Amino acid sequence: MPKSINQHGLYRLKIELKNFIKQLFFLQSKPTRNSELIYDIYHKIREEKLQKLNNFKTPEDYFSDITFLTTDGKLRYSLLNNKIVFGKANFINFKIIEIIEGIMNDSNPSNVIELGSGGGKNLLWFASRYKNINFIGLELSPISVDLARAAAKKYNIKNINFQVCDLTKIETYEHLLTETTFVYSHHTLEEMPRIYKLPLRALKNSSVKLIALLEPVYMFKFSRLFLDISKRLRIKNRDRLIGLKRFCKKNLSKVFYIEIVDLGLAVKPENSTTLVILKRK
Ligand SMILES: C[S@@+](CC[C@H](N)C(=O)[O-])C[C@H]1O[C@@H](n2cnc3c(N)ncnc32)[C@H](O)[C@@H]1O
Repeated sequence: MPKSINQHGLYRLKIELKNFIKQLFFLQSKPTRNSELIYDIYHKIREEKLQKLNNFKTPEDYFSDITFLTTDGKLRYSLLNNKIVFGKANFINFKIIEIIEGIMNDSNPSNVIELGSGGGKNLLWFASRYKNINFIGLELSPISVDLARAAAKKYNIKNINFQVCDLTKIETYEHLLTETTFVYSHHTLEEMPRIYKLPLRALKNSSVKLIALLEPVYMFKFSRLFLDISKRLRIKNRDRLIGLKRFCKKNLSKVFYIEIVDLGLAVKPENSTTLVILKRK
């Protein structure tokens, strides 16, 4: 049964405290989130989805790929309007995609880029609906790009293009960052804890007018006390993103109006999604 936010927060806090202590006494290794680690993590996940591609009949099925149980067989809880819920992970991802869609529609773009497009589920969902827009996914993991391309072929979606791309290699994609391009990310910069500044600087120096970052920026809320403390510890234990809000305010505020919204939404409650909108001045 869904728990209260404090019960779930305490449960997560215990896990993160245990991990912290184990790492402190060298009983558990501390990961360094670099391109090699990311490559390995996503290779396995996307290989499995590629094998199951036939099970996903439509782009909606392909999008709704989160199961009720986690990989270790536990019930998958999520966060919806700052409440712990069960069985709503795909619904929450739909809510997030609707937020991105609303921002995208405001700017009437001719091109849309997703930074770190993974298996392409967000872009395929958009591209199947917006035939007059050209969608581009930039993704580090080649098998993810293979999967996304195979899915585009399966659903006969033509207005989409996936490229293998390391977002730190700006010269490989800066020509795509044009005035009529809307750029967004969804839980990608979190996988680049030290190097996320490179693509953001490239965006600053480009002529892109509107950017939406949907990333787990650390936002403390007293009503989520234990959950937010566990989120902070998780960032430390797992080498996750920290400092995005500060970086945006310090380095991007001269060229962009910045809006930061705590959405109270998360597929994983301990990793809630924040919306950062960058609008060129
Ligand atoms: C959590 S997944 C999210 C995927 C996708 N945005 C989604 O919502 O389904 C993060 C993605 O970022 C990609 N990524 C991480 N570092 C990257 C980099 N330096 N360049 C390009 N993609 C990267 C990973 O390979 C992974 O597919």
